[in-house]
Formats: sequence, C-alpha cells, structure tokens
Amino acid sequence: MRFLSTGRRHPAIKTLFLALALIAMGAFYAGMAPVSQSSADGGNSTQVEEGRKLYEIGCSSCHGLQAEGTSQGPTLAGVGSASVDFQMGTGRMPAAQPGAQMPRKENRYTDEEIAAIAAYIDTFGPGLTIPEPEQYSAEGLSEEDIARGGELFRTNCSACHNFSGKGGALPEGKYAPTLEGVDDKHIWEAMRTGPQQMPVFSQEVMTDQDTREIIAYLNHLHERPNDGGMALGGLGPVPEGAFAWIAGIGVLVGFAVWIAAKGVRVK
Ligand code: HEC
Ligand code: HEC
Repeated sequence: MRFLSTGRRHPAIKTLFLALALIAMGAFYAGMAPVSQSSADGGNSTQVEEGRKLYEIGCSSCHGLQAEGTSQGPTLAGVGSASVDFQMGTGRMPAAQPGAQMPRKENRYTDEEIAAIAAYIDTFGPGLTIPEPEQYSAEGLSEEDIARGGELFRTNCSACHNFSGKGGALPEGKYAPTLEGVDDKHIWEAMRTGPQQMPVFSQEVMTDQDTREIIAYLNHLHERPNDGGMALGGLGPVPEGAFAWIAGIGVLVGFAVWIAAKGVRVK
C-alpha cells in the first residue's frame, strides 16, 4: 500500500535531501567511526575490554558470564547492539530485579559505555546494529508522509499502544507503554527488536522510510496533541460522537421537562 509520493516533490528537494544526507553521514562517521568498526579491529579491543568489565558488574548475574543466560535472564548471544542500546537507553536494563516486565527508568550509563557493552555482547554473536540517524530521523518528511505514518500507526500499533499512543494494558499484568517522549532512535529499535509481546517489524515488513513516517507521525501527535475537535482525552471520534449524543439528548430531555412544566401550569 505504498503511494508514490516522491513523484510529486520538487526536484530541488531531492538535491537538498542528498546534500543533507551527505552532511549527516559525514558528521556521523567523523563521530562514530571508531565505535562502529568491526570487533576484530585492534583499536576496538579496548572498547570490548571496557564493555566486558561493565558487563560483568552490571549484567552477568542475570545473563551469565558468557551471555548464555540464566534462570534470571535470557541469553544475549546474537541479540545485536540495537537491542542492547534500546534496553539500556530506555533504562529497562540493567533490570533492578526479576519480574514480568522491566519498566522504563532513568538510564545511568553514557552512550560510550552502552556502545562498549554492546560491542562486548556482539562478540558472542553479532546481530542488528544501532541505527544511523538517516534510518530513523523524521527530518524533512512532508505532511503527506506524516499522514501515511498515521495510517501505518493505526494499522500496526494502535491495537496495543492506543490511537493516541498513550499505551494500554495487556493480559497477565503486562502493558504497552506510552509512546510520548520516547527517543526517535528508541522507536526504531523497538520496532526492529520487538521487546516483550511487541511483534518484530523487520526491514521486509516495514522499510526505514515506513518507520520514519511513523516516527514523524508520533512526533506530530505529541507536539500538537489537540489540534482539532474537543479535548475528550484525545480518544477520537467515537467518544466525541457519544458526547454529542448525550449532550443532545440532555437538551431534548430538558426541553421535554420544560414543556411538561408549562403544560401543568396551563391546566
Ligand atoms: C536482574 C536481572 C537482570 C539484569 C541485572 C540485567 N538483565 Fe537484561 N534482561 C533480564 C530479563 C528478565 C530480560 C527479559 C525481560 C524482557 O524482555 O523484558 C532481559 C532482557 C534483556 C535484553 C533483551 C534481550 C532480547 O532478547 O532482545 C537485553 C539486550 C538485555 N537484557 C541486556 C542487559 C544488559 C546489557 C544488562 C547490564 C547492563 C542487563 N541486561 C542486566 C534480566 C536482567
Ligand atoms: C502486540 C502489542 C504491540 C504492538 C502491536 C506494538 N507494540 Fe510497541 N510495545 C509493546 C509492549 C508490550 C512494549 C513494552 C516492552 C517492554 O516493556 O519491554 C512495547 C514497547 C514499545 C516502545 C518502547 C517505549 C518505551 O517505553 O521505551 C516503542 C517505541 C513501541 N513499542 C512502538 C511501537 C510501534 C511504533 C508499533 C507499531 C509499528 C508497536 N509498538 C506495536 C506492545 C506492542
């Protein structure tokens, strides 16, 4: 169900995008190149060593010294740095104690420490890597793209996260959290890694362009939560309709009472 929306854009916009993408890539590589090099690289072994130390202190009690997993936590072999970045970046990991679902909390690690732990965990089996900004940035998307992101969101996400992204309860005391205030990068990582009951939305199912549109829609939704209709908890047209109906009936009942009262006086 993809519309060929690109055909409508002005050709200069493409050039502008290309230039921006090149600048972004340049900046990204300047800052990140040493971090994203392969772990076989000599210069990277200090990072892996740093990661090992942090892992043994903060993670091995539940995930095992060889990331093989224990009764307290699953194996991390092959989960990929995107999953480590999501779990740690949102403060879910390190978990404070075992439980049905790890809540979001304040992340106390730096990006470098997270990258180091991710690099160490990658030595047990590599997986999906941390995305680059151009894979998740909503920068430069059109109104049309945002509208399409809204469609994708309502089709694929709202069943658990609610139409307004406010989250909702799931069976067995679990829940889909609110999506308000979640980093763009973490939205991408959640979609690609599927934490807990959330399905994995792979590259084949949802392209990076699709995820960018959803991210743009969520940003738009939370920047302007009430740009139309009545503020009835942002629950959409059904409660608004119900409200109109109840208020309308109320007026009619009041009118009927008034007629009845008048009728009594006339008698
Ligand atoms: C108290 C135990 C505990 C500690 C400590 C802990 N974890 Fe976990 N971890 C878990 C449990 C339980 C799960 C699975 C629950 C879930 O998916 O929400 C999990 C899941 C994960 C996942 C997701 C795995 C997947 O299949 O995608 C990653 C990644 C992870 N942990 C990384 C870490 C890292 C890195 C640390 C250390 C900084 C850490 N954990 C510390 C218990 C722990
Ligand atoms: C079947 C239910 C389900 C569907 C469908 C679903 N999610 Fe989730 N989602 C969850 C659950 C459950 C969690 C919490 C995972 C955890 O606590 O480890 C979650 C977590 C997230 C998070 C992390 C938020 C945070 O607090 O850090 C994001 C972002 C997210 N989902 C986005 C999406 C998007 C975007 C879609 C649609 C493309 C989607 N989800 C579809 C159940 C779902």
